[in-house]
Amino acid sequence: MTHKIAVIPGDGTGPEVIREGVKALKAVEDTVQGLGLDLEKFPYGADHYLETGELIPEEGLNRLSEKDAIYLGALGDPEVAPGVLEKGILLKLRFYFDQYINLRPVKLYPNVPCPLSGKGPEDIDFYVIRENTEDFYAALGGRAKNKTHETLEISRSIYNAKFDTDIEVEGDEIAYQIGIISRKGAERAIRFAFELAEEKGLERMTSVDKANVLSHAYGLWREVFEEVAEDYPDIETEFSYVDAVTMWFVKSPEWYRTIVTPNMFGDIITDLGAMIQGGLGLAPGGNINPEGVSMFEPIHGSAPKHAGKNKANPLATILAGQMMLEQLGEEKAAKIIEDAVIEVLKEGEVRTYDLGGDSSTSELGDAVAEKIRER
Ligand code: IPM
Ligand code: MN
Repeated sequence: MTHKIAVIPGDGTGPEVIREGVKALKAVEDTVQGLGLDLEKFPYGADHYLETGELIPEEGLNRLSEKDAIYLGALGDPEVAPGVLEKGILLKLRFYFDQYINLRPVKLYPNVPCPLSGKGPEDIDFYVIRENTEDFYAALGGRAKNKTHETLEISRSIYNAKFDTDIEVEGDEIAYQIGIISRKGAERAIRFAFELAEEKGLERMTSVDKANVLSHAYGLWREVFEEVAEDYPDIETEFSYVDAVTMWFVKSPEWYRTIVTPNMFGDIITDLGAMIQGGLGLAPGGNINPEGVSMFEPIHGSAPKHAGKNKANPLATILAGQMMLEQLGEEKAAKIIEDAVIEVLKEGEVRTYDLGGDSSTSELGDAVAEKIRER
């Protein structure tokens, strides 16, 4: 079966790590009989934006809609104001394709240095399922009580009752950002998490929120969690506050099996998750729409300071490729990639700087591709 895959290398170290990811995909395509991968590159990112003023055009979205998956490097460039590329491309794609799940495995592989003393691969192996389209990412908000016309109107309509109406005074300026949890959005993310736990035989589900303070939004989240949990009586459930979870990730990561959480807390705790699995160089993620076009990427950013040095660790991107194949139903090919990564790590001869070695991005990619071809 042939899968049509869009490749967006992006910015900074993105093209270097995606090159190695593609190398692994090609190796597995050659190894697994009947597997076809039809890759097409797309130029979106900082250079394209600076040259053309275009982030991602309608025509690009249409062409991506025809693909079975998107394989993304990283976005972000010091030449472009923060947020422009992230919101204009990365979040745009997540929203446009309604990729409502952000699946982030937190897994410490053998022979990877872990900053937690006394913890090994048997202690760190769980999934974070991050809701990916709502919460504070819904981009609802504004500024008011400043001197611009639109915000003047907003401030009149929303805040007149509460604030002095002298909106010409700049010192009174306010900003507000609203987090949204919808019943449907929470339900589909939580159900996906339970389905995954069931499929993988994982016995515990932790809902991470902050319902003690943000009780409107996360109160609804909890209600929906309890409703959905009833359909999975064999899975043990618990609620945990996000601040406590950051502590427990460090103290007792072995407790966790599957975690489901709204968007922003999911963003934050998966960076911590990446550190306990050996660093951002090892942490992949999938932006998933189970009925649509999903997108796979390393969870790290574009790391501009390392760009062009053939230095970055490509394993997170290679493992994102593994997740992509799994989502496409190519379990066997996916497992070959993961096994190859594990073997290279176990041998420990080819290691990038973050793993304490001095191998280059391409040397590590070559080592993985070679292991794949040995299957
Ligand atoms: C991530 C990133 C993005 C996010 C940024 C770049 C918009 O941090 O994928 O975790 O906040 O989701
Ligand atoms: Mn993040």
